[in-house]
Amino acid sequence: MTGERYSITDRIDAATGGMRMRRLRQAEWSRRLVREKQLSTADLIWPIFVREGSGAPQPVESMPGVDRLSVEGCVEAAKRARDLDIPVIALFPYTDPSLRDETGSEALNPENLICRATRAIKAAVPEVGIMCDVALDPYTSHGHDGVMAGDRILNDESVEVLCRQAVVQAEAGCDVIGPSDMMDGRVACIRGALDDAGCRDTMIMAYSAKYASAFYGPFRDAVGSGGMLKGDKRTYQMDYANSDEAVREAAQDLAEGADMIMVKPGLPYLDVLARLAREFGVPTFAYQTSGEYSMIMAAVRNGWLDGDKAMVETLTAYKRAGASGILTYFSPKVAEMMRG
Ligand code: PBG
Repeated sequence: MTGERYSITDRIDAATGGMRMRRLRQAEWSRRLVREKQLSTADLIWPIFVREGSGAPQPVESMPGVDRLSVEGCVEAAKRARDLDIPVIALFPYTDPSLRDETGSEALNPENLICRATRAIKAAVPEVGIMCDVALDPYTSHGHDGVMAGDRILNDESVEVLCRQAVVQAEAGCDVIGPSDMMDGRVACIRGALDDAGCRDTMIMAYSAKYASAFYGPFRDAVGSGGMLKGDKRTYQMDYANSDEAVREAAQDLAEGADMIMVKPGLPYLDVLARLAREFGVPTFAYQTSGEYSMIMAAVRNGWLDGDKAMVETLTAYKRAGASGILTYFSPKVAEMMRG
C-alpha cells in the first residue's frame, strides 16, 4: 500500500464529508439569505448631550462627531430621530458648575435643563420616546452618582433623592427612566415613587450590570463631571472581573420591577450581555459607551480603520450576543446608512 496519492480535494472531502461551509458565502444574495441577525433602526437608542443657552452645537472634544446641543438643538435632533425611525433618544445634561452642589439638588428642580428639554421635545415630537438617566453625577460637586458623607456614598439616602429625581423627570414627560446609579434597592423604590405619583406608565430600563469602567471617560467630559470626580465609583459600580454577580443584579432588578435591563459597557462585556439575554429572556440592552465610540473614532481619524464598517460590525455584534437594542452615539449615522 505504498505510494497511494490522495489529492487535496479527496482529503478535504474525506474530512468534511463533502460539507463546504463556503458554499453559502459565495454571493451577496446567499449571504443575506442565511444571515442570522440583522441590525435595524428599531434597535437604536440615541444618547444626546444637552446644554444651556442657544446657538450652534458645541463639539465634545474627546468624542469626534458628538456635540452638546441647546434645547432647540435637541428638538431638531428629535425630529431627525423621528425621520430616521430611531425609536428613542436618551438625554444627558451638561450642568453649569455653578449649579452643582454636594447633594445634587439641581436634579430635583422641575425647571432644570433636562426637564425643559424633555418638555420641549415632547411638545414638538411626541412620537419619539425619551429616556433620562437617574443618577446624581451631572449635578454633584464631587461627580458621584449619590449623596456623600466624608468619602462614602450613602445608599439609602441616595435612593431617596433618586426617587424624587425620577418623579421630576417623569412628570416632565420622560417615558423611560434609566437608573444608572447602582444603589441597592433603587428600582423597587423608584417604581413605587413613580406609581405613587401617578406615573404608572413610565418604564424603567435598569442599568443592571454597570461596571466600574475606564470606558466612561469621554462621557464624563461631555457632561462636565470628569474633572470633578473624587476617587472612583468602585463601591457601587461592579467589579469588571465578575459575571455571576451580573446575573444576581439583573435578577434583583427584575424582581424589583424593571421592565428592561442593560449591560454597560458593551463590547468588552458581550459575554455578560449574552448570559443575561439567555438567562432572563427579557428586553436586554447594551450601552456602547463613550470610550468605545471614541476608540473607533480615534482610529478612524488616524486613517487606521474604516469607520462605517467598524460601526456596523460592532453594532451587529451586540445583536449577535442577544441585545434587544443598543444605546450608541452612532445612532443617527448608522440609521442614515441603513436608509441608504
Ligand atoms: C452616569 C452615567 C455614566 C454613563 C451613563 N450614565 C457615567 C458614569 O457612571 O460615570 C456613561 C456613558 C458613556 O460612557 O457613554 N451615572
